[in-house]
Amino acid sequence: MPKILFVASEAHPLIKTGGLGDVVGSLPVALQSLQADVRLLLPAYHDALARAGELKTVARCAIENLSAPVRILEARLPGTELIVWFVDFPPAYDRRGHPYLDAGGRPWPDNAMRYALFADVAVRIALGQANIKWRPDVVHCHDWQTGLVPAWLATEKARPATVFTIHNLAYQGLFPRETFEALGLPAAFWSHEALEFHGQMSFIKGGLVYADRLTTVSPNYAREIQTPEFGCGLDGLLRHRAGRLTGILNGIDDAEWNPAQDRFLAKNYSPRRLQDKLANKLALQREFGLPEQPETPLIGVVGRLVHQKGIDLVLETLPGLMHRPIQIVLLGSGEAGYEEALRVQAARYIRRLAVRIGYDERLAHLIEAGADMFLMPSRFEPCGLNQLYSQRYGTIPIVRRVGGLADTVVDASEKNIKTGKATGIVFEKARGSALLAAVDRALALRRNNLRWNKMMRAGMRQDFSWRHSATEYLRLYRQIMRGKRTSSGKRHVSRKTGK
Ligand code: ADP
Ligand code: GLC
Repeated sequence: MPKILFVASEAHPLIKTGGLGDVVGSLPVALQSLQADVRLLLPAYHDALARAGELKTVARCAIENLSAPVRILEARLPGTELIVWFVDFPPAYDRRGHPYLDAGGRPWPDNAMRYALFADVAVRIALGQANIKWRPDVVHCHDWQTGLVPAWLATEKARPATVFTIHNLAYQGLFPRETFEALGLPAAFWSHEALEFHGQMSFIKGGLVYADRLTTVSPNYAREIQTPEFGCGLDGLLRHRAGRLTGILNGIDDAEWNPAQDRFLAKNYSPRRLQDKLANKLALQREFGLPEQPETPLIGVVGRLVHQKGIDLVLETLPGLMHRPIQIVLLGSGEAGYEEALRVQAARYIRRLAVRIGYDERLAHLIEAGADMFLMPSRFEPCGLNQLYSQRYGTIPIVRRVGGLADTVVDASEKNIKTGKATGIVFEKARGSALLAAVDRALALRRNNLRWNKMMRAGMRQDFSWRHSATEYLRLYRQIMRGKRTSSGKRHVSRKTGK
């Protein structure tokens, strides 16, 4: 039974800012059901501990230069048997709210220290130096916050294998050189072949350069990030490591996201009881203060309000969209400029456009269930989960052909509709005109009940559960465990001296 240590900065339902939380909250559970022995390591954020239920201290480890020992607390991921270990060092993690940002939406000034300490403890557990008996065969790290783990482990001769998953290459954990020095990292890491990136220190490069295997969350994004357009300056490195990089599509927690038993819905429904979806639409219109009109097409948007998600395209297209006989509900939070612009537009198109700024799990579910269509005009999208949830909920996704969206939504071309394969509307260009044309296609299709319902059902029939992807991860773990370690080339820099 392979022993896997998951190291990540968020996991639903303990703490979540986006899809990373969903994945880390469900993939380890799926792996466990395939007989893997998985433990999840998280920072002991205030809110995560509050949601964790019963906690016990399983280890204490003294770390040089820290005022107190770090405690490792153990709990179970709520609703599962998965063991979660929290790295508890209150000065670093005992803060309410967002894990990465302060109340003003700015990154915590000590984020580099927080995630370096987190990585340090992960490394100690991996090497059996944290007063914990369990030792992993594979350490599976996620995104920049965990990038130092593969880098540090690469300096050790006897160590577990490492996998680093890129959920979003655009977030790299870049810090000034002084931070690199303050963290006391091996001097040899200050090289463009290691952690240095255009004069800054890059956490994500720790994963990209040193992990035995790299994965990302869709096959298409795995190809895209090897090109200058999507590579965020790291495409050369990723091409260099292409032989070690695979795209494994995300799955969804199909118990949590199941219209037949979702506790957040006004009425549960299934492909056989599609007519019950309507009660959710009416509830959604009511909730957002829109006129309760069963016939008016209702478009939902949920997501982080950032450039990635093409929110500017939605804003730019609003005058055109509002000329159409539709309603839009949008739930999101993010950049202040987008939040403000959306508020202004909602006041302008009252009764047509309703905006809720904030983070609300229940409303996200209700929108997936109540909307007729779900809009994701992303500029790039490593995988995207909302288009998967939409399909499961019989809500037709309108998406840009990019990243994981291209891998998971089948366009409603004449041929795909005839063969019953179509599950959504896919458009090419990140332009307002293309978005508008896609919405028009959706509206035209919706006038044909038969075709529309066929598409809804085709989406609802898709199996996006973790079963397939968890099996692929397991295969990958087994491969590296069989001793097929890659040569990342930098394995013998001493962790302490950098020589
Ligand atoms: P990303 O990880 O880039 O944000 P994904 O589509 O992979 O995008 O996942 C986003 C997840 O976060 C989904 O579960 C979505 O419902 C959730 N989410 C995003 N914004 C909000 C919000 N404002 N309120 C509730 N849930 C949200
Ligand atoms: C990232 C990506 C998103 C992906 C999620 C989970 O946040 O932006 O596309 O679905 O991670 O892997």
